[in-house]
Amino acid sequence: MKITTILGSPKKKGNTATVLGQFEKIMEKDHQINRINLKDKNINGCLGCGACRKKPDEIGCVQKDDAISVFEQMLGSDLIIYASPLYCWDFTAQLKALIDRHFCMVKAFNLPDNHVSFLENKKVALLVTCGGPVENNADVIQTVFERVAFYIKAKIAGKFILPLCSDINVAKTKGLKLAEKMAAEL
Ligand SMILES: Cc1cc2nc3c(=O)[nH]c(=O)nc-3n(C[C@H](O)[C@H](O)[C@H](O)COP(=O)(O)O)c2cc1C
Repeated sequence: MKITTILGSPKKKGNTATVLGQFEKIMEKDHQINRINLKDKNINGCLGCGACRKKPDEIGCVQKDDAISVFEQMLGSDLIIYASPLYCWDFTAQLKALIDRHFCMVKAFNLPDNHVSFLENKKVALLVTCGGPVENNADVIQTVFERVAFYIKAKIAGKFILPLCSDINVAKTKGLKLAEKMAAEL
């Protein structure tokens, strides 16, 4: 499988990177891993200009930043991991910007049950680390992820949350168990 992992944390050696790295290490034995660190990318928010709507057969975004190359890597993958620390109950701004920009890979969403997504049937999974519990904290991000998956017509392969992740040691120890669970299920 070709797996693209998208790290939305501003920290390349933080908690989320640690768990994601453990997952990648297990998977790279049998699969091809392509890590994208959004911290290194220049990705603007969606302009809402609608230019992509007029180009049904291509991505068609007028912004020539790094989002297009990230999308091309996603389109060439079998499985995409969205990995983010929980920031104010949601994705980091870095990952949220990329997710908003998915708009240009979805066409004719105004036609009920008939929209087209370039990511249709792609497997997607969510990885979140957070300082607090899952309940009343890491619940909204899961709902957002489910809605995004519906919007892009992707198949949710799994959702993996590491709660009470107060420091890097928790990310290394409990994170390894979660990484192993991810590897077993994905
Ligand atoms: C700006 C900011 C917002 C945060 N918001 C939340 C939150 O809403 N809920 C929570 O449980 N943890 C929150 N945290 C804690 C992080 O999610 C947690 O420490 C995470 O494991 C950090 O991952 P990282 O090292 O990959 O950045 C927040 C941290 C920051 C810096």
